[in-house]
Amino acid sequence: MSETQIGGVAATRIAAFAAREAEVYAAARTRTRAALQAGASPWLAGVPMHWMRDWPQPFPMLVAAAKGAVIEDLDGHRIDDFCLGDTGSMFGHSPAPVARAIRAQAGAGLTYMLPTETALQAGQLLCDVFGPMRWQVATTATDANRFALRVARAVTGRPKVLVFDGCYHGTVDDAMVCLEGGKTIARPGLVGQVEDLSLVAVAVPFNDLAAVERALAAGDVAAILTEPVMTNSCMVLPAPGFHDGLRDLASRHGAVLIIDETHTISSGLGGYTRVHGLKPDIFVVGKCVAGGVPTAVWGLTPELATRFAAYDATRPSGHSGMGTTLSANPLQFAALVATLSQVMTPTNYARMEAGAARLCAGLSKVVKRRKLPWHVVRVGARVEFICAPGPLRSGSDAATAHAPALEAALHIGLLNRGCLIAPFHNMMLISPATNRAQIDRLIAAFDAVTAQLFET
Ligand SMILES: Cc1ncc(COP(=O)(O)O)c(C=O)c1O
Repeated sequence: MSETQIGGVAATRIAAFAAREAEVYAAARTRTRAALQAGASPWLAGVPMHWMRDWPQPFPMLVAAAKGAVIEDLDGHRIDDFCLGDTGSMFGHSPAPVARAIRAQAGAGLTYMLPTETALQAGQLLCDVFGPMRWQVATTATDANRFALRVARAVTGRPKVLVFDGCYHGTVDDAMVCLEGGKTIARPGLVGQVEDLSLVAVAVPFNDLAAVERALAAGDVAAILTEPVMTNSCMVLPAPGFHDGLRDLASRHGAVLIIDETHTISSGLGGYTRVHGLKPDIFVVGKCVAGGVPTAVWGLTPELATRFAAYDATRPSGHSGMGTTLSANPLQFAALVATLSQVMTPTNYARMEAGAARLCAGLSKVVKRRKLPWHVVRVGARVEFICAPGPLRSGSDAATAHAPALEAALHIGLLNRGCLIAPFHNMMLISPATNRAQIDRLIAAFDAVTAQLFET
């Protein structure tokens, strides 16, 4: 009987490699293990956030400190960080201007429910960087997307959001759907899901304008919610003309186009939208927008803002379903202004772009030399190796390409060689603080790990 192959490697070989690497990881972390044994039990499942268990290591790495693109664990390992808080720290850990702004605000109050002069400055900077929108602040990109959807439903009077199969926009309930046999269904793993999500959402394949048009023709879609590039499974790039087609279809069918730039902010200054001239009705970005301080922003075009104001004037006063108490606090504005004016700069983006191009070229060379049936994709500062041939065109292509057992083995192999990459896919980010030596070490580690898996 022939052996099961995953990404070109025998499953038994992957398992043996992963087991060896798990032992190496554990042997090098006696302090971490002892600390976990002493202090993890008050947490549900041993961690303060359930997905912290989903890393491939046999037990979590406890972080002692992080600065720039280096993270240090409790056992004193200094690790090159390409995960960068999976985008929250895409501009490096504690960028100096943000750290200064936080220190200055720390003595002047942390939350007031009132705006500040710095908030007014932040609004202008948001327009300068992302375009002349009418902005609101939230604490997470999840919330920003939820609020954007409310506005879209309010102005259109329609119930549904159109999302792409395989998408992720945070824990927005309505977007937690997928396609099965051509039908929109709730994702099978959702905890405590009782509402029938097909009443409020429709999923279609990415890059399929005909399917988008068919869904919009039903007349019940309030908004299309999409990332410019699908980044949350294996990366799927938009086909030429896809975004122009989406814009055109949204306008023709009266749906609001929401572009979620939370990950594609890696593309360059102003995100993929500015770099590639997209024209969303609502623009959303979170995670790194305030340098790592929990902040998201969402902006409406002036036209949509006018439509929303007309709607707003007609609704009864009271809860809107948008906003949380700690959102729009002065710490967020201090960090937002520091990030937008001193961190998210053309110079920093140029460094990130050059570093990512170096990483992409280095990994691609290894893939080619070893004749791996894999490919490498890049969106600005975001690079991903995918353990299957490319390019991918849809979420279902991405799901097929995803190779969890192989990826977990690779991740722990890379970590044991000093490089941390994002846990749920093979994503690597280059910050302005990431230097060439770190990038070259990651390429060398990738070479060493693939040698172990592929060489006989
Ligand atoms: C594209 C996109 N939008 C929104 C979110 C949600 O961000 P948060 O978890 O900060 O709410 C994510 C998280 O990964 C994301 O990838």
